Amino acid sequence: MEVRLDPAGRMELGVIGEPAGHGAAVDFRRVSLAGISSQPLVRACGEPGQLLDATAGLGGDSWILAAAGFLVTAVERSPLVAAVLRDGIARARADGRLATIANRIELHVGESAAMLAASGTPWTAIYLDPMYPPKTKSALAPKPIRLVRDAVGDDLDARDLFLAAVAANPGRIVVKRPHHAAVVHPEPDLTFESKLARYDAYLRSGSSLRTLRPSPEKSL
Ligand SMILES: C[S@@+](CC[C@H](N)C(=O)[O-])C[C@H]1O[C@@H](n2cnc3c(N)ncnc32)[C@H](O)[C@@H]1O
Repeated sequence: MEVRLDPAGRMELGVIGEPAGHGAAVDFRRVSLAGISSQPLVRACGEPGQLLDATAGLGGDSWILAAAGFLVTAVERSPLVAAVLRDGIARARADGRLATIANRIELHVGESAAMLAASGTPWTAIYLDPMYPPKTKSALAPKPIRLVRDAVGDDLDARDLFLAAVAANPGRIVVKRPHHAAVVHPEPDLTFESKLARYDAYLRSGSSLRTLRPSPEKSL
């Protein structure tokens, strides 16, 4: 995989050897924001506040959340994927119609679990959308998702990231899961369904995280 410029001068993630223009670029002008506050992702994340998108990818979900009023810290560990996202955010910042939303997103390149352990930020919400294995070998995901998968592989440490999020004690943790996914976390407090996925919300004030949270005795 490589990052190169497409014919419109945007950075794109693509397969080495394929012509420029066949990869995935980030262009937030194309994102529809109609009915944004009723989108399951936005409802799952609760009241707008300081949100960590710990699996930023190409930033589609960060963008929706920023448009809904969240201040988004987006973290992506693949330098290739992050470079393409950084380019998309920079172009949005230079576009008068998109700048307000783009300025609500701060991108970091790195490992979210390490960042969570180091930062004392009182996150309103931590959002997790790790790569998951395709439903069947023949089921074809949209091209940008396939390209990101080719660049980063499967996120086999998703459970560790969830536990790092629990330890950071945010107001809530929201995990995006495909409908077919096995339950890898305890039962959520709330679930919001969309056509393609569900958003499981684990609330600090709820009961779902109690068994995972380090007790005061354990941390002595
Ligand atoms: C399914 S994609 C996310 C898609 C994203 N929600 C969007 O709207 O474009 C998962 C991304 O999270 C990144 N990722 C997974 N685990 C991570 C971690 N622990 N720290 C930082 N990035 C991570 C992967 O490299 C991959 O780019």
